[in-house]
Amino acid sequence: MLVTSALPYANGPLHLGHLVEYIQTDIWVRYQRARGHECLYVCADDAHGTPIMLRAKADGISPEALIEAMFEEHRCDFDAFAISLDNFHTTHSDENRFYSEYIYRGLRETGAIAVRTIRQAYDPVEEMFLPDRYVRGTCPRCGAADQYGDSCEKCGATYTPMDLGDPVSVISGRTPVERDSEHHFVRLSEFEERLKQWMGASGRGGGVQREIANKLSEWFDAGLRDWDISRDAPYFGFEIPDAPGKYFYVWLDAPIGYMASFANLCARRPDLDFDEFWGEGADTGLYHFIGKDIAYFHTLFWPAMLMGAGFRPPTAVFCHGFLTVGGEKMSKSRGTFITARTYLDHLDPEYLRYYYACKLGPGIDDLDLNLDDFVQRVNADLVGKVVNIASRCAAFITRHFDGLLSATLPVPAMYEEFVGAGSEIGAAFEGRDYGRAVRRIMALSDRANRYIDAEKPWVALRDPARRDEVQAVCTMGLNLFRVLMVYLSPILPRTAERVESFLNAGASRWEDVAHPLLGSRIEAFKTLMRRVEAKQVHAMVDASREEEGHSDSEAPATSSDASEVDLEHFDRVDLRAGRIVGARAVDGADRLLELEVDIGEGRPRTVFAGIRASYRPEELVGRMTVVVANLAPRKMRFGVSRGMVLAAGSDESGIRLVALDEGVAPGTRVR
Ligand code: MSP
Ligand code: ZN
Repeated sequence: MLVTSALPYANGPLHLGHLVEYIQTDIWVRYQRARGHECLYVCADDAHGTPIMLRAKADGISPEALIEAMFEEHRCDFDAFAISLDNFHTTHSDENRFYSEYIYRGLRETGAIAVRTIRQAYDPVEEMFLPDRYVRGTCPRCGAADQYGDSCEKCGATYTPMDLGDPVSVISGRTPVERDSEHHFVRLSEFEERLKQWMGASGRGGGVQREIANKLSEWFDAGLRDWDISRDAPYFGFEIPDAPGKYFYVWLDAPIGYMASFANLCARRPDLDFDEFWGEGADTGLYHFIGKDIAYFHTLFWPAMLMGAGFRPPTAVFCHGFLTVGGEKMSKSRGTFITARTYLDHLDPEYLRYYYACKLGPGIDDLDLNLDDFVQRVNADLVGKVVNIASRCAAFITRHFDGLLSATLPVPAMYEEFVGAGSEIGAAFEGRDYGRAVRRIMALSDRANRYIDAEKPWVALRDPARRDEVQAVCTMGLNLFRVLMVYLSPILPRTAERVESFLNAGASRWEDVAHPLLGSRIEAFKTLMRRVEAKQVHAMVDASREEEGHSDSEAPATSSDASEVDLEHFDRVDLRAGRIVGARAVDGADRLLELEVDIGEGRPRTVFAGIRASYRPEELVGRMTVVVANLAPRKMRFGVSRGMVLAAGSDESGIRLVALDEGVAPGTRVR
């Protein structure tokens, strides 16, 4: 079988959210291998698209240099977390270009590609078409300011960027214009019957989860719309073969990256045959692990692309939920946006693998990383229960029996029972119900500890006549421990390796425990896993908080001052470019001017400003300044002030209004 994880974008580091997926997939893959299956696991960096192009531009480097640096970083992180990829490749590769063109041609030959002209927002300064998310403006339905070009966060309306009131390009701050451009579309509706069949067929074998099947039905009911797969230059990606200046949209070539990575592996491994895994009618398994945010791409577009170009569809697409930390979205200011790198600076990856395993089920529910619970679980379960069995027993065997295990087991039935539990635990792994697998394993650990408690080898040791008994009880304990370690090995591969050298025996395959270890010698016990200290976790959170300041601002380091605000707080102040379109003195208030300021909302806002001593009303009209747009409205004697204009100075020294250079549209975000 061939297994994939979603390809991380090459414009940022891996974080603990990504790791939910990579750990979930890796546990499944390692489980399959532990059962003796040939299971290949590939991934790649997702290197194309507008955000990567713009990020490189902002950093003053080429996109190629950016993705290369990220590639190395991602690869290190995968290794450090023991993600057992057979290949990690990139979508910016020859293989991917080949298969992208191949699939596109296949679709075109079967008449699944349509070409038509669409009208789109265009940034005249940057000379590029703007993706929906790069245009902001006022929601056409509810009037909420500063909404994205595709949907309103306030009222949920969906629309196109040019429907916005006073649209602004996020890149240049200028008002976009509309332009026509020819686009290429995949006619998804052509695939409706085949997709339904695929969903039904794969559904029976657990191919798409119930929640996803429900979603798919909704999408079918709503009608499958044509999918726009082309983008205009400038774009970082692959040019479309028969359409110069047009590029494949990143989401066309991204999933093809699964194929490309596999093809790249085949080139190194003559024993592998590409068609055996991708050819039409292939009887191997093809499994994709993804987050629920990208289900549409993987359960509609991707199978359609494969079918349209004569490849086999996936056997199953497994979706997981999103990570929260402490019950909330990961946040830089709270220090819970934790990168893989920062985690590794402070904690052992096996802890996180275990914690996620405890929390992962087969569904698409979100999962929470609670840092106190994390410390508690790792210490109580792994150190306190599992490793404890080995450390107690090994000490006696090493000290009093020269490391030699007894020749028979005192309670073979109990051993058989532990081995028998392997089928239920295996089924839980197979069904991605790792939480259930862990609970079963911990219940068995409790039993093993109770057995040792009841036998009290430390008491028996005092009686020379009971020496054999001590050896037998400890041999029993170590054998039970080994069975548990085999079950935990997909989750804790490094610990399992250490156990193998400690026991001088296999402890990472189900078949390893068919027979108990008897009469053989073990090595002296060395610490298999350390306790987690809460202070390590705190240090990690602190480091995550600091990192933000380093990466996001060029400001000189300041002492940590209680009055400091972080970026998130600063960003809550909504500063806008505003043009003063009216100004008059307020009767009965000799310090105030009443200003009308256009901040791109369609009608100007009334703002009262205490600047009358320094300005005559007529000299202000036409000026550009900065307005605090989300200041709560203040009711004054003369009317309501909606916002504040920024100025410096005092009545005595004179007040000077903050001025903005010409060239930005009213309403542009100031930061
Ligand atoms: N590049 C696309 C995937 C292309 S696959 C052909 C992408 N990249 S991503 O970097 O944003 O996310 C990679 C995977 O990590 C996705 O499956 C995504 O759902 C998952 N996660 C990203 N953040 C996550 C959390 N906070 N929690 C859980 N999974 C998360 O999407
Ligand atoms: Zn709205």
